[in-house]
Amino acid sequence: MKRIILCLICAVAILSMAGFASGQTGSASHPLVNYELELTNYYSATASDVVARLQQRIEQGATTLKFDPTHGYLPSLLKELNLPLSSQLLVFSKTSLQRYHISSHSPRALFFNDRAYVAWIPGAPMLEMLAVDPTLGAVLYTLEQTNVAKPRFTRDNRCLECHVTARTLDIPGALVRSFHTSREGEVDLLSGAAIVSHRTPLSDRWGGWYVTGAYGSLEHRGNHFSVLTPGSAPVSEAPGGSVKDLRALFDVSRYPQPTSDVAALLVLEHQTHMENLLTRLNYEARASLRQWGRVTYLTNITERVLNYLLFIDEAPISSPIHGGSEFTQWFEQQGPRDTRGRSLRQFDLQKRVFKYPCSYLIYSETFEQLPREIKLHLYRRLYAVLTGEEAAPEFKPLTADAKRAVFEILSDTKRDLPAYWKL
Ligand code: HEC
Repeated sequence: MKRIILCLICAVAILSMAGFASGQTGSASHPLVNYELELTNYYSATASDVVARLQQRIEQGATTLKFDPTHGYLPSLLKELNLPLSSQLLVFSKTSLQRYHISSHSPRALFFNDRAYVAWIPGAPMLEMLAVDPTLGAVLYTLEQTNVAKPRFTRDNRCLECHVTARTLDIPGALVRSFHTSREGEVDLLSGAAIVSHRTPLSDRWGGWYVTGAYGSLEHRGNHFSVLTPGSAPVSEAPGGSVKDLRALFDVSRYPQPTSDVAALLVLEHQTHMENLLTRLNYEARASLRQWGRVTYLTNITERVLNYLLFIDEAPISSPIHGGSEFTQWFEQQGPRDTRGRSLRQFDLQKRVFKYPCSYLIYSETFEQLPREIKLHLYRRLYAVLTGEEAAPEFKPLTADAKRAVFEILSDTKRDLPAYWKL
């Protein structure tokens, strides 16, 4: 272990002395994590995410983006990337390179599916995108909101300042935060959760976010504006409880949707951290294979992935939640379903987010394209937990019924399972 750490330190030192990546075309490198990014040639590798593929189709003349007078390229881009309008989330904390455009009156709208995220702010000069490449992790792009014949996405590594940090597990990734946030969008960085995942207690979530739907008596930080006075505790200006309609809080008419759906937000919070864990595992597996020719040193990250994949320690939902039906229906329709009609995308929203405790990101390209050795190892561990062969106390919360259901769904729907799963 000491040797690995030593090698990592040496590699980082050598790379930074040599000014690694300073010669990269048009991109600033990230100062802290060169070693990780060098592993995948992050800066120079051709990305194969959905935005890169869309760019190719635009260049070949196979498609183009229409420019709408109100929203610019947004509606056309969402259509091309298959991101539903119902996934719209509104966040008013000042994050992004276009922070000056964001406030509680002009929140940033996010749209997403499990391959890409698009961020739009009314009147801002650029659209911002994050697309997941199965090897590189998050690739960040901007698109100028000007009407041209062939719109161009620009890979923008300035974004890595926030999208590669300890909060994203030191790999390029998506993130969700929750802090006390003022009407102006200023954030009190000492006040909340810097990484929000499905494990974060609901009472600590949604600071800086608008949240619509019905969530009963649930305690949370959504739709709150805090008064931030240096040295004193933030004072909250708005009541908690459910908010069905944002019209009372700001002018929503400029946005494609009047909502910021609570169910979509719960999905985002699960998904971003799961993706980062999978990308982290991918980076570590590649490093280990290159260094040692095998992946036996990865117990720590593999078990973290496994536990999160199976929703161990998911924060309980204390009061039933109802989002808008449009998003939940769209999400559930993505499937796949097993022969009995069951899917890992089915919601529960009574006590937990999903009905079956295994992440649908097991079908993602990032998972599918993990190095073979590590994927086989994960499948072996998953099999041991689901069949009860693994009796460690941390897996006790999984009931026999839940384990059986997940086992059956996976056996039916996952194509590349080793033969012993079918016996
Ligand atoms: C100052 C830090 C910061 C910078 C710089 C930044 N982002 Fe982000 N970004 C965030 C945070 C934090 C979130 C999560 C939303 C929140 O909690 O405010 C986010 C969210 C996003 C999302 C939604 C997916 C997700 O991660 O939740 C996209 C898309 C995005 N950013 C794109 C970009 C692009 C493109 C750039 C560069 C042009 C960029 N960001 C620069 C902090 C930043």
